[in-house]
Amino acid sequence: MVPWRATDEGFVTPENLDWYRRFAQGKPGVLVVEATGVRDIPSGPLLRIGDDRFIPGLQKLVEVVREASDGETLLFIQIIDFLSVRRRPEKEKYFEKFFTVAVRHRTGLAELTQDSRWATASDKDVRDYLCQASDAILESVLDSRELEALRYGYRERVTDMNLDHVRTLPSELPPVFAAAARRAREAGFDGVELHYAHAYTMAGFLSALNNRNDGYGGSRENRVRLPLEVFRRVRHEVGNDYVVGVRFLADEVIEGGSRVEDARYYALEFARAGFDFLSLSKGGKFEDAHQPKVGQAVYPYTGQSGYECMPTVLSDQVGPFGRTVPLVASIKEAVNRGGFTVPVIAAGGITTFSQAEEILRSGKADIVGLARQALADPDWFTKVRLGYGTEVRRCTYTNYCEALDQAHRAVTCKLWDRHDLDEPGAATVDDGRRRLIPPAWKRS
Ligand SMILES: Cc1cc2nc3c(=O)[nH]c(=O)nc-3n(C[C@H](O)[C@H](O)[C@H](O)COP(=O)(O)O)c2cc1C
Ligand code: SF4
Repeated sequence: MVPWRATDEGFVTPENLDWYRRFAQGKPGVLVVEATGVRDIPSGPLLRIGDDRFIPGLQKLVEVVREASDGETLLFIQIIDFLSVRRRPEKEKYFEKFFTVAVRHRTGLAELTQDSRWATASDKDVRDYLCQASDAILESVLDSRELEALRYGYRERVTDMNLDHVRTLPSELPPVFAAAARRAREAGFDGVELHYAHAYTMAGFLSALNNRNDGYGGSRENRVRLPLEVFRRVRHEVGNDYVVGVRFLADEVIEGGSRVEDARYYALEFARAGFDFLSLSKGGKFEDAHQPKVGQAVYPYTGQSGYECMPTVLSDQVGPFGRTVPLVASIKEAVNRGGFTVPVIAAGGITTFSQAEEILRSGKADIVGLARQALADPDWFTKVRLGYGTEVRRCTYTNYCEALDQAHRAVTCKLWDRHDLDEPGAATVDDGRRRLIPPAWKRS
């Protein structure tokens, strides 16, 4: 879970160490460190692993987790690539800075206004006119990507074959992921999780919307090609005795997107290739995200696909609980039927011990993952193990933490971030109004 605690250069901070120490104290079987960028490019206060200079900080993080969990918690790191997403611009800024006047805009304006002078008007006149134009005019003169850049902020896709750096992703990404995985091993992590889910680059390749024409888009076989090539390169780099897992989508939950049939196919391909675990998520896409306010970036967890990724209590009769589990069960069944025993992981709205136990006992998944419930109570694991389940602080799934993530603010949980603020040594943010990690569990 991204907690927004790294430095702007992507280094591990004392706050990162406190965060992971606190989770490790609850002794989950495995802790997966937040999505960590594989490239050496600025990405705000998100962890990075795109250069050897990041290794010492990550090494420290590994040591802290080992010590806090008495060596009982395995530590993986999730590694990720993402394409460019810009904030929604002011209209004036968009037309002045980002908009390129083309012949088709001039032709469109000339037709609409019955005025042929647009063919030779200056670029500035075209920009100024469009900046003042009605929505109807903009919708007839701009293409869908220009309208999107104006109304949501510019966003790259894996299908932007006109962009050199996008066209070359199939040759660029395998070595970049492999080097990141090698650094993870050097830093002492027990394994890496390749992030092929949600709104990120590799998920873009797996998406049914990927119609690249270079052999990496179109059919399922082509869409899974780069994800497999990245895996093979990573495996080659870290060796067979190192855990390499994958997180991908059981369903994209967007129009024209990949469905569970695609996920079953990918799962079999991933199992055959030799991944050590398959972790399923759902949705979390830009395609159906709500329009951001001017100056903010589009957030891929605001539409229906976002809802299915991090479901809240505002829901149907199923509520936020285990909505991905039936899909995971069908994926696991296909994997096992194919002769593979690679563990399949379910996550999303898993909150009580009995719910987790039922998923495992009935064979719907091999492992269960908790994100928000673990944030609400990092001691969940110890409490249920020791029979203190009634003392678990239950997540209410109202997504206060998600709102903080959306605003790029330090993520905390509303169930504990105002508790014991005067506790000596409690680190806080917002002028002392929120503590950064939960108080220690005082066993009754
Ligand atoms: C604040 C926050 C940060 C998250 N960061 C990540 C992340 O870095 N990588 C990831 O795969 N999922 C991330 N997720 C999604 C969770 O892993 C999980 O799929 C989702 O919250 C549903 O599971 P849950 O009901 O147990 O929370 C994040 C969720 C939240 C609330
Ligand atoms: S802030 Fe709300 S949704 Fe997030 S972990 Fe806490 S209780 Fe759960």
